[in-house]
Amino acid sequence: MKPMRFAIIGCGVIGKTHVAVMQDMPEVELVAVSDEVEELGKGLAEKMGVAYYADYQEMLERPDIDIVTIATPSGMHGAHAIACANAGKHTIIEKPIEITLEKADEIIRIFAEKGLKLSSVSQTRFSRDIQRVKGLIETGKFGRLIMGATAVHWYRSQSYYDSGDWRGTWALDGGGALMNQAIHRIDLLQYLMGPVRSVHAHCETLGHERIEVEDVAVASVRFANGAVGSITATTCAYPGLKTRIEIIGENGTAVFENEQITQLSFKDEETELAESKGGASADPAALSSSSHRPQFEDMIAAVRENREPAVNGEQGRLPLEIIIGIYRSSQTGQTVTLPIVTEGVGA
Ligand SMILES: NC(=O)c1ccc[n+]([C@@H]2O[C@H](COP(=O)([O-])OP(=O)(O)OC[C@H]3O[C@@H](n4cnc5c(N)ncnc54)[C@H](O)[C@@H]3O)[C@@H](O)[C@H]2O)c1
Repeated sequence: MKPMRFAIIGCGVIGKTHVAVMQDMPEVELVAVSDEVEELGKGLAEKMGVAYYADYQEMLERPDIDIVTIATPSGMHGAHAIACANAGKHTIIEKPIEITLEKADEIIRIFAEKGLKLSSVSQTRFSRDIQRVKGLIETGKFGRLIMGATAVHWYRSQSYYDSGDWRGTWALDGGGALMNQAIHRIDLLQYLMGPVRSVHAHCETLGHERIEVEDVAVASVRFANGAVGSITATTCAYPGLKTRIEIIGENGTAVFENEQITQLSFKDEETELAESKGGASADPAALSSSSHRPQFEDMIAAVRENREPAVNGEQGRLPLEIIIGIYRSSQTGQTVTLPIVTEGVGA
């Protein structure tokens, strides 16, 4: 089978990870990259022997591109994704899908109208341990779900926020510890526990000077199935701790550190304990470059088989809605009920 031809918009931290992932995938041929910063984009293009474009719109005119990955600042995802759709390209958007529900809905609508595949990056969903516990929950092994909690207590220095104009801004990062760092775990929590019904939260900026967004957040959560839970996130926890997810059911408990099971216990079985490894708790570039691969493979299969990608636009919208709900609760002091009604829906 001929390889699928990819292009990338944005050659920063995660754009380089996309390249590293694609290099190991025989079913992928990278044909072009774009970055408005010439030294970043051109350098990567020369290294990979592919075409470089300062103007991504010009790159999208190429008829030989099948799938585009978007790795630009979060608040630009909508404009870039819509340009991809208008150019007839299937598209993978880095997380978050966008920073507002209205823009996320617009993206989802346009890709559906054009009959193009859209995938929103949530690479940790493809982790074998996450899939294993998801399967056990679905077969009823945990019994009734009681509580689901996640903690993303990481460290990002002031110099991290200073390293890009967009970092730590409402306009382009769309939020802080929740929207940028904790979104993967929030996605996994709702993926495992089921839909969130309401949130009540406190978000603060307590450990950094030159950021607009929250660097610490605490939310209590009620799930649609009656279970309760919590989401805590910070970028102030030096030197950065392993992330944690706890799933507690009436018949058993699963604990994840990063994406690996460290405890799996059922009342009727022996406890399983495992060692977990480090990760991106202190270094955003430390993400394993292989971790996007299953999601890229799923997108290629979705295009070839003309089916929905496992994490499509609607799936990418789910953690965004929880985070927007948490921000609204913190701003108003009120409990926020989901789904959030948006003005743009169906427009
Ligand atoms: N999935 C993950 O685990 C993961 C990890 C890190 C970042 N991300 C996401 O990836 C996105 C990018 O984050 P990053 O840390 O790589 O940021 P970054 O600042 O390192 O890279 C963004 C790049 O986009 C380029 N860019 C901006 N406007 C452009 C345009 N019009 N055309 C072409 N290039 C343009 C910038 O020059 C920059 O090089 C964010 O949305 C972030 O949330 C996801």
